[in-house]
Amino acid sequence: VDKRQDFKVADISLAEFGRKEITLAEHEMPGLMAIRKEYAEAQPLAGARITGSLHMTVQTAVLIETLVALGAQVRWASCNIFSTQDHAAAAIAVGPDGTPDDPKGVPVFAWKGETLEEYWWCTEQALTWPDTPTGGPNMILDDGGDATLLVHKGVEYEKDGKVPGLETAESDEHRVILQLLHRTLGENPQKWTQLASEIRGVTEETTTGVHRLYEMQREGTLLFPAINVNDAVTKSKFDNKYGCRHSLIDGINRATDVLIGGKTAVVCGYGDVGKGCAESLRGQGARVIVTEIDPICALQAAMDGYQVTTLDEVIDKADIFVTTTGNKDIIMASDMAKMKHQAIVGNIGHFDNEIDMAGLAKIPGIVKDEVKPQVHTWTFPDGKVIIVLSEGRLLNLGNATGHPSFVMSNSFADQTLAQIELFTKPDAYPTGVYTLPKHLDEKVARLHLDALGVKLTTLRPEQAAYIGVEVEGPYKPDHYRY
Ligand code: NAI
Repeated sequence: VDKRQDFKVADISLAEFGRKEITLAEHEMPGLMAIRKEYAEAQPLAGARITGSLHMTVQTAVLIETLVALGAQVRWASCNIFSTQDHAAAAIAVGPDGTPDDPKGVPVFAWKGETLEEYWWCTEQALTWPDTPTGGPNMILDDGGDATLLVHKGVEYEKDGKVPGLETAESDEHRVILQLLHRTLGENPQKWTQLASEIRGVTEETTTGVHRLYEMQREGTLLFPAINVNDAVTKSKFDNKYGCRHSLIDGINRATDVLIGGKTAVVCGYGDVGKGCAESLRGQGARVIVTEIDPICALQAAMDGYQVTTLDEVIDKADIFVTTTGNKDIIMASDMAKMKHQAIVGNIGHFDNEIDMAGLAKIPGIVKDEVKPQVHTWTFPDGKVIIVLSEGRLLNLGNATGHPSFVMSNSFADQTLAQIELFTKPDAYPTGVYTLPKHLDEKVARLHLDALGVKLTTLRPEQAAYIGVEVEGPYKPDHYRY
C-alpha cells in the first residue's frame, strides 16, 4: 500500500501546527513520556498491530506515538464524528520524520465533522490491515466500544446473516452499520471472522464502552479478553472528573461565550463526570442543581451542597442543562419545549441519545439554524429559542478540544500499560473483562507526582507491617473506593 494514500485527514498542510502542539503536550504528559523511556529498549509492543478508535486529538497523538515508540504498528480512527482536531490528525499522518509531501506517519482516518457513513468507513479502515495474514489488527484500543462492536457484529452477521440489536435498523446509525456489513459480506464473506480470530484483546477507555463489554461477557458473546481501563482509579477518578471540570466550561464558553456566573445550571447525573461538571459550573459562579436516580449519588450531591431535584421541577427555570448519565432519553423534546428562551442544552456523556434530538426535529414548525459548526438554535413555533451544542454529542470534544494533556497522560498511561499486559501476557487473561492490577494504577499516579512538585511520604517497614501492606504498595485493597 502506498503510504501517501493509506490515510484520510481534512488537511495535511496542518501537520506543522499539529506537531508544535504535540511537542507542547509531550511536556504536559509526563506519564506517557516516562513509559517511553522505561520501555525504549524492551520494545514490549513489537509485533503488536493496534487498531485505535479514540478521539483524534493532540493528546491522542502523544498516545499513538508512545505505542509506536514501544514497537507497535498502529492504525487509527476517531470515536466521534466531531472530536478530531484536524491538525493533530495531519501531524500523525505525516509523522515526526515526514513532510506533507512525503508522509511517513501512522495511517489515520479522521476529520472533524464526519457523516455517519464516513465515521463507520473510517472505523473499518482502521480495522483493515493491508498485507497481514488475517487482514486485521491483533489488538484494539477502544473508546466507547465502536471498533469492538463492528468486529462482533461482523462475526454475527457472517455466521447467520443476522445481527441482533441492529436488524430493526431503528436509527440512522444502525442502518449505516448494516449497510457496511452487507457490503463487506459481498467483498469477503469471512472478513470479520478471520480478523477476530487473531485479536488478543481490547483495552477500553470509557464507562459506556465498559458497559457494552460486561454485557457481552454476561451474554457469553465476548470474543476476546478486555481490560476495563475506565475503572482504573487513575482514569475514572481523574479524567472523568477533573478532565470534565476543565473541558465542560471550555466547551460552553467557546460555543456561546455566555456568562456562567449567576446562571442556574442543571447537571443530570452525579457520577464521576457529573461531579466534575457540577464543580466546573459552580467554580464559575453558577447555581448548580443536580438530578440523580441513585440515592447514594443523590446524597453525595446534597452533601456537596447542591440542590437535588427532578428535571420536571426546574425545566422552565434553568439556563444551562448538561447530561452526564451515559443513559438514554434524559432530556426529551417535550422537556425542551418547556425551557426558557435561549436555554443552553448540551451532553457530555459518550453517546448522543441522552438528548432527544430526533424528537426535537419532529416538533411541528420547529426551525433549526446553524450559528456556527456545532452550535445550533432551535426556534419553536412560538418564537422561543433554545441553543443545542454539538447536536447532542459530547460537547467538550465537539465545541472545545476535550480534556487537557496532563489528565489524559494518566488515562493514556493506563491504556499503554493495559496494552502491554494483554499483548505480552495472553495466558494471564482468558476471555473476560479485567481491570488493571493495582500496582500499575499506583505506578501511573506515581509517574505524575514530580511534575506537580508532590513529595510523597515513604512508609516505614513497621508502619507497613502494622497496616498490612508492602512498603512499595499496593496500599489499598481492591474494594477501596478512593
Ligand atoms: P457514572 O456511572 O459514574 O455516572 C453516571 C451517573 O448518571 C450515575 O450516578 C447514574 O446513577 C446517573 N443516572 C443514570 N440515569 C440517570 C437519569 N435518568 N437521571 C439522572 N441521573 C442518571 O458514569 P461516568 O463515568 O460519570 O460517565 C458518564 C458518561 O460520560 C458515560 O457515557 C461515559 O462514557 C462518558 N464520559 C465522557 C467523557 C467526556 O470527556 N465527554 C469522559 C469520561 C466519561
